[in-house]
Amino acid sequence: MIKKLVELQEKAKTEIMAVKTMHNLNEVKSLYLGKKSPLQEVLTQMKDLTVEEKKEMGIAINAFKQAVEEFVLVKRDLLQKDLINEKLEKEAIDISLPGVKFKDANYHPLELVTREIEEIFIGMGYNIAVGPEVELDLYNFEMLNLPAGHPAREMQDSFYINPTTLLRTHTSPVQARTMLENKNKPIQIICPGKVYRRDDDDATHSHQFMQVEGLVLGSNVSMADLKGTLEYLLKKMFGGDRVIRFRPSYFPFTEPSVEVDVSCFKCNGKGCALCKQNGWIEILGAGMVHPNVLKMAGYDPEVFQGFAFGIGIERVAMLKYGIDDIRNFYTNDIRFLRQF
Ligand code: DAH
Repeated sequence: MIKKLVELQEKAKTEIMAVKTMHNLNEVKSLYLGKKSPLQEVLTQMKDLTVEEKKEMGIAINAFKQAVEEFVLVKRDLLQKDLINEKLEKEAIDISLPGVKFKDANYHPLELVTREIEEIFIGMGYNIAVGPEVELDLYNFEMLNLPAGHPAREMQDSFYINPTTLLRTHTSPVQARTMLENKNKPIQIICPGKVYRRDDDDATHSHQFMQVEGLVLGSNVSMADLKGTLEYLLKKMFGGDRVIRFRPSYFPFTEPSVEVDVSCFKCNGKGCALCKQNGWIEILGAGMVHPNVLKMAGYDPEVFQGFAFGIGIERVAMLKYGIDDIRNFYTNDIRFLRQF
């Protein structure tokens, strides 16, 4: 009987080692250890043995079971290793393949225009100034020669925080702030930033928009410098063939004041849809700083003169990129923004 068990064990070993799948392994295992295994036959014959023989047989049977369990464990390990290797081979990563392209963000068109304007002015030796968006009436109006009750305040109706504080209606208050900081020293700054007005939103108006303010003060600054500066700026932005023209205008903080037009960069001044058939595009407001503004900020108008200007960034971006609705800038449509 023991001999039979040893034979059975050898057979089990060979069969177990030959299986190819986990499923087969389990089948073969129960074939040798399960209810229908040849082991049962051995067990039924046990009753005819002597006590001594039974004891010996018991040990042999346990050894057989242990051995078969052992073979199964070893084989299971081998099968598992095979599975892992097969998987590794199948899922091998080719590190020489190009990766998935990461779509990185691009600058917002308003940021692009702002940066372009900044670059141009930095190249001319200007500094970049900043000011708060929540501003005092004092700087937003009063010190710009717009006292309480001045009719020009009406054009810049705003959002008031309280009777003396409002969301700035233009970047011009930075003029007053910069002058107070630099008392009696020359100034050459631009200030880009957000401004607010109580305006109905439509294709060309928004209650929040962006401007770039410019201020130059010195003892020998003339209107010719203003013209040269703006011509340089507009040629850089809209092409070397551009010419500019000044039209008389009115701003309380400049005297004289001008509205600046640039010759249409699309039709070269002949007249087209972009320039509404008149060959010129209105682009910004400017002028020579009003003596009252200088005085209020502690500058002596007999010593200092200067010019100032204000550019609407949305308007420049709309012209430059051919955008027909200002609301495109603010609605965060990724299809629109990805074009820049
Ligand atoms: N602050 C004016 C506006 O928002 C624009 C402007 C005009 C600014 C003339 C200036 C300037 O500095 O000189 O309408």
